[in-house]
Amino acid sequence: MGSLAIIGSQWGDEGKGKITDLLAAKSDLVIRYQGGNNAGHTIIVGDRKVILHLIPSGVLHAHALSLIGHGVVFDPRAFRQELDEVNSSETVVTSKNLKISENCSVITSYHKLLDQAREGSATVSIGTTGRGIGPAYEDKVGRRAILLKDLLDPIKLRQGLQECLAEKEVLFKQKYKISFPQIDNELEDLLELGKLISPYLVDTFSIINDKKDGNLLYEGAQGVMLDIDYGSYPFVTSSNTSAGGIHTGAGIPGGKVEEVLGITKAYTTRVGEGPFPTELFDKYGEQMSKVGHEFGATTGRPRRCGWLDLPLLKYSVKASNISSIALTKVDVLSGFEKLMVCTGYNYQGKKIDQVSVGMDLGAVEPIYHEMVPFNDDFKGDTLTRQLQDYIKMIEDFVEVPVGIIAYGPERSEIKFLKEYFK
Ligand code: IMP
Repeated sequence: MGSLAIIGSQWGDEGKGKITDLLAAKSDLVIRYQGGNNAGHTIIVGDRKVILHLIPSGVLHAHALSLIGHGVVFDPRAFRQELDEVNSSETVVTSKNLKISENCSVITSYHKLLDQAREGSATVSIGTTGRGIGPAYEDKVGRRAILLKDLLDPIKLRQGLQECLAEKEVLFKQKYKISFPQIDNELEDLLELGKLISPYLVDTFSIINDKKDGNLLYEGAQGVMLDIDYGSYPFVTSSNTSAGGIHTGAGIPGGKVEEVLGITKAYTTRVGEGPFPTELFDKYGEQMSKVGHEFGATTGRPRRCGWLDLPLLKYSVKASNISSIALTKVDVLSGFEKLMVCTGYNYQGKKIDQVSVGMDLGAVEPIYHEMVPFNDDFKGDTLTRQLQDYIKMIEDFVEVPVGIIAYGPERSEIKFLKEYFK
């Protein structure tokens, strides 16, 4: 049996969708284990563009079973919409190829409203996706979340909503001065959604742990720098986006993921607020944004762009036990007049080349190494010496190999330098 995790090694949007899709073709189980519909995985299949937010990429492969583990916060309304969208294309999602943990915490309409109200009034905004992710995880750790299985039990659901919403009513009315939706309406909606979701609900943990053969693919969302514990706190999402989230959000037969593939954009991007040491405000940043179509798949917001940050990448490698790297969007940098890579920082009067948990990334000044730019058309089998040098620079710094190079959105625009799921 093989197991592989796909982890974003930066601030998300590294191009995980395409790699997950390609490896899902070799997988029997494809498992989401954290986050929710804040994610946006774009996959190009022929002339179709599929954007998945909550549903694992495994649904694009007829033989694979897709699972949503209990670590995911699940918005039933968003699921209904995504299901309609995906099923209106050639893909068919049913309870045969998608199973959802009955223990996922539910994102209610109150969570979304609270997320948006907070963002609107905060002195320091996080720049969330407004999907209710943070407030839903708050209720989970506050031990008052509604679980998906509760949507099948009207009495439990009413009680749960009343408990969960008692404090929120005060917040809505007094702190944020926004209207508080009727509990009865929410109850009715959630019970209706429960009927739609019910055929999908199972104990996903047992499916994963009872698996004795085949390949398991863990599909991470966001990136290590958005991890609630390892990321650029407080400008993070509310889940463990690092490989650790797999243990708590899904389950791992044998206790070990064999391969952790860190998806790494050839440069760096970030949506939302928070420190970004290598961010560019010049023509090179603009070129990355334009050529790389750097707009969020979920919110459409422009992504901030900058040079590749190797100390951050090395930190992600350590925080997630990343064993190889998939370098994506390499084509975007091809033809650039200038090519820089960050190899360290000036921080508190010292030169450093390591990042640690909680370090104030807003207080670092990047130290750059200038590389000879590359200009590759990726038509033949060989890469230019300059691109090979760029790749070697990354490998030497982070001490893991680059196993995949992706140079365009199509499934075919990829080179595997290493075999996955042998
Ligand atoms: P939240 O996950 O909506 O609470 O947002 C928290 C932070 O994570 C914000 O900076 C978002 O822009 C960022 N974020 C959440 N999901 C993604 C993603 O899939 N890609 C990139 N950034 C994300």
